[in-house]
Amino acid sequence: MTHDTVRVHRCEEIDRVNPEIHGHFAEHLGRCVYGGIWIGDDDRVPTTDGIREDTVELLSDLGVHQLRWPGGCFADAYHWRDGVGPREERPRRANDFWAQGREEAFVESNAFGTEEFVRFCDLVDAEPFLAANVGSGDPREARDWVEYCNRDDDTTLARERAENGSEDPHDVTYWGVGNENWGCGGKFDPETYANEFRRFAHFMRVAGAEETIACGHIDEDWNRRFLAELTEPDLVDHLSIHRYFGRWDGDCGSATDFDDEQYYRLFAESLKVGRAIDSAAATIDTYASTDDVGIAVDEWGAWHPEADSENGLQQENSVRDAVAAAGVLDDFTHRADLVSMANLAQTVNVLQCVVQTDEEAAWPTPTYRVLDLYSPHVGATAVRTAVDTGAVETDLWDVPLVSVSATADDDGTYVTLSNRSLDEERTVSVAVDGEVEAVTGELLFAEHDPADYSTRENADGFASADLDATTADGDVVLDLPPSSVAGLSVETV
Ligand code: AHR
Repeated sequence: MTHDTVRVHRCEEIDRVNPEIHGHFAEHLGRCVYGGIWIGDDDRVPTTDGIREDTVELLSDLGVHQLRWPGGCFADAYHWRDGVGPREERPRRANDFWAQGREEAFVESNAFGTEEFVRFCDLVDAEPFLAANVGSGDPREARDWVEYCNRDDDTTLARERAENGSEDPHDVTYWGVGNENWGCGGKFDPETYANEFRRFAHFMRVAGAEETIACGHIDEDWNRRFLAELTEPDLVDHLSIHRYFGRWDGDCGSATDFDDEQYYRLFAESLKVGRAIDSAAATIDTYASTDDVGIAVDEWGAWHPEADSENGLQQENSVRDAVAAAGVLDDFTHRADLVSMANLAQTVNVLQCVVQTDEEAAWPTPTYRVLDLYSPHVGATAVRTAVDTGAVETDLWDVPLVSVSATADDDGTYVTLSNRSLDEERTVSVAVDGEVEAVTGELLFAEHDPADYSTRENADGFASADLDATTADGDVVLDLPPSSVAGLSVETV
């Protein structure tokens, strides 16, 4: 039996966990928007204005907080005017970037546009985050989108919005200025993007965009050269980085088929998210301040080799992916002073989605269960933790077997813990500042193998169970089965 120790320093506050850190991302790609969110007149599933009610119900229960749309790579090929006005008159366009895998989906119908997206955000109570087109658009198009969404006086664009059904402005706060502009978003070099960003962000701000998100990179050279050339860091509220793990830098197997080495390799890869945040933060601090420029990890998650453009980036979502997500969420909590927002890719049916659908039903993935278990952290204050645990060696670096994070509020302390060990139960003692008065807990995946994934038939079996936690010598003691995640509410006096 192993015995790990965790110390939660309730008085050592890091920062508030912005609700925006628990955000999501939906792109016009595969079955995310069309099929997963929007089904229009298809009456096999109840809809509200063409939007699937089953998807809405799951996402509202979870809490989406903020939702990034329409891409992704799609954003820099998207012209927002194509997606407003009478639906039957909207143009049909080739979805240039994503070959989508289904014959009928090569064409973008534009049935789901700005009004439909904002309606969906209202239904799931999410702040909309719009990514403007820099790669094939111009500043006028981007500033007009801001005006269309946000003006409440008598301009032609505000009137047009009213004619399209929205008298009140949409009050969109978050505006992405392009997406991956070093790649699919136009293949810019950092200096050219900096000059484009300055122009776009300036006009978008003047038109009413409250917060702008600049395209950053996990490659530090891009961030350094972009910020050096920009010279006006005030125009950047958030610098974006994208970090996927799985198919890109090493062999982690597939979503559901991996050997021991591949199993741990995924966790090693997932640790790169925290490292990318630290390195982007160091660069921001050279040219501006991380107090003023937050890091938006506006795409993250597991991406397995079987998810390719042929199948619309579809993959199963296993317990291993969900446990890896728990560790990444811990890393966000540890860096609550740096991370201003984050978007798991992608909400429905694509990559590490939280909801999957078929033509008749929607169900939650194991990753949904983790985000749900982590929801008490949202809006609470992140506090420092120290963990003494074992580690597994990988060819990248050692992977700590137990991952932890904690937040505090007036009601007490909330601690999340995951056991990444493939085969070993770990007993963990958790010491929280103060005298423990009451403890309750929930446990995920105790009865599952790491390769298990949810289907329409078995999804309920992934729900959390009560966790047995005892107190001994003032500490909370619990057993974490292999590949499991726990949430612990601790009241202290
Ligand atoms: O999420 C899939 C794609 O990954 C996005 O379109 C792009 O931004 C990233 O490379």
